[in-house]
Amino acid sequence: MVSASQNTPSSGPIRLGMVGGGRGAFIGAVHRIAARLDGDYTLVAGALSSDAKRALESGIELGLSPDRCYRSFKDMAKIEAAREDGIEAVSIVTPNHMHYPAARAFLEAGIHVICDKPLTSTLDDAEKLATLAENSGCLFVLTHNYTGYPMIRQARDMVASGRLGSIRLVQVEYVQDWLTEAEEGSGNKQAEWRTDPEQSGAGGCVGDIGTHAWNLATFVSGLQTESVAADLDTFVAGRRLDDNVHVMLRFKPEGEEKPAKGMLWSSQVAPGNENSLKLRVYGSKGGLEWQQEDPNRLLFTPFGKPKQILTRGGAATGAAAARVTRVPPGHPEGYLEGFANIYAEAARAIRARRDAGGKVPGDVFYPTVRDGLDGMRFIDACVRSSAKNAAWTNL
Ligand SMILES: NC(=O)c1ccc[n+]([C@@H]2O[C@H](COP(=O)([O-])OP(=O)(O)OC[C@H]3O[C@@H](n4cnc5c(N)ncnc54)[C@H](O)[C@@H]3O)[C@@H](O)[C@H]2O)c1
Repeated sequence: MVSASQNTPSSGPIRLGMVGGGRGAFIGAVHRIAARLDGDYTLVAGALSSDAKRALESGIELGLSPDRCYRSFKDMAKIEAAREDGIEAVSIVTPNHMHYPAARAFLEAGIHVICDKPLTSTLDDAEKLATLAENSGCLFVLTHNYTGYPMIRQARDMVASGRLGSIRLVQVEYVQDWLTEAEEGSGNKQAEWRTDPEQSGAGGCVGDIGTHAWNLATFVSGLQTESVAADLDTFVAGRRLDDNVHVMLRFKPEGEEKPAKGMLWSSQVAPGNENSLKLRVYGSKGGLEWQQEDPNRLLFTPFGKPKQILTRGGAATGAAAARVTRVPPGHPEGYLEGFANIYAEAARAIRARRDAGGKVPGDVFYPTVRDGLDGMRFIDACVRSSAKNAAWTNL
């Protein structure tokens, strides 16, 4: 398939469109900040809301030309693909069930896709989308944004280079409290769709934030999950999806070593927790600890030696972290910069493609549609396991 984005003029920032992210939405605004941070993109078109009036008003508020504020993403894909100055990439920031139809429309129009997680609302859609994306000639970037943090890149590099020895144990948790009460009944749109299986998918908390935790654990450890034993629970009366999940993880064997084991806890009903994403990885030679609410520090304990505090930009951090670090140590970087790192990596790949269809440099990293499909397999296995009283279930 010929990509529209490969046919258009190649100078200047990447022309970006957005689906979702209208007035009052959450993550669309974060994507816009992330896209702006390094000057790589300019937002020129949007189908920003499911409500046509709000889509237009939201676009005008953001400075879009009224003729590029679309009522539907299908119109947007068709019209933008035909324009000489049409969008080269689109950000999809709708509730989960719209990811697949929107991504499909843009991939079929030859436009690169940057899509939020989870990939889709069903495993079936995820499989179709992965096949479509991989045959489209377009790039597909999934914003598992925590992979963009410098100290996470550092942690991954330390595991890969053997500083921890062979990995034995992975403990990860992503815990919040904002759904402790029936928030979905109070007019909170974000809570409404997240607790609706039609829009969210078969997983509630496990799909919304459990996938972030699982993605991070596998990204840093480099391990592949063989099976899960998952206990999904719903503590708030009347809620239709899980709001708490405990998962035991068995990883695939790596070489001759005994396969690693893991545990994942995700909750949205644990008072006192905001975005408490924590990861601990233990190997035969040492351990690592990281938490998202203190993201510039990574704790490293070589076995039998004192604990070390590695800081972003500090003396002990290497090239993997340095290439996604913006400011000197001690000036905090966080959620927005980590998110922007995914956009910056995507921009390098898109620019490489549009400059004479060039090859994407080998050191560019961003989560792909394949990672999204893996995440959907994780959700699916957790739901199936829980339905069988937490029986061990292969992914
Ligand atoms: N990576 C992260 O850290 C992170 C954080 C929050 C949310 N998310 C993901 O981002 C997505 C959006 O979550 P949110 O919290 O911003 O939701 P939200 O409810 O705040 O916003 C969703 C937006 O999508 C729009 N929309 C719905 N259907 C549409 C359609 N057919 N066409 C155009 N627009 C449409 C809505 O009008 C709204 O503007 C979800 O998939 C969620 O899982 C990711």
